[in-house]
Amino acid sequence: MEGNTATLQKPKYLGLLNTISNAESAAGVYLEAWADVTPNADLACTLRLVAARERSHGDVFCRRIAELGFSLRRRVDPRGAETLAKLADPRISDLDKIGDRQQGDGDGDFFGDIRRKIAEGEFDPMTANLLTWYIAEEIDSGRRLREVYDCVRDMAGAKKKASSGGPSADAEAMMACMTAGFARMEKSLEKLVKASK
Ligand SMILES: [Fe+2]
Repeated sequence: MEGNTATLQKPKYLGLLNTISNAESAAGVYLEAWADVTPNADLACTLRLVAARERSHGDVFCRRIAELGFSLRRRVDPRGAETLAKLADPRISDLDKIGDRQQGDGDGDFFGDIRRKIAEGEFDPMTANLLTWYIAEEIDSGRRLREVYDCVRDMAGAKKKASSGGPSADAEAMMACMTAGFARMEKSLEKLVKASK
């Protein structure tokens, strides 16, 4: 504890920490529920990894709020039940669940704004550290999800093509994922080469 609530001045970023904790805890529940019903083992694996991170972010920011001398205010997402019902329903395809899920790299205005505030020294040092770690994990989670979502889309596209008389659906899906994998590998190699110059 860094002080007594009665004598403490509320940091103006307490609301941000509260929002992050609630949103991350909820996301952990949604993604785990989806992992439990998907028939796609790769997708399930990524969903569980990201869900574990989300739960951890929820806990850590709740703890940070307590360390600052305050308590998390639990908020219920008004659309949470609907989101959970859809993701936990095995009759709804993974493709439908992915739908128009954010395709950005998670590094939009939200993180940009937090990064700027970190640089300007708006947070206490411990909170700034946590936020930096959190942003790094969120960006990595976003990248992992995008990759596996792309594979699900490719596989669904290949199946559709095959049902209209193309090559075998499985062969197409495997090729699609391998091509995506090679493209990623090529990019990583390019980066490595650049970094070693
Ligand atoms: Fe998150």
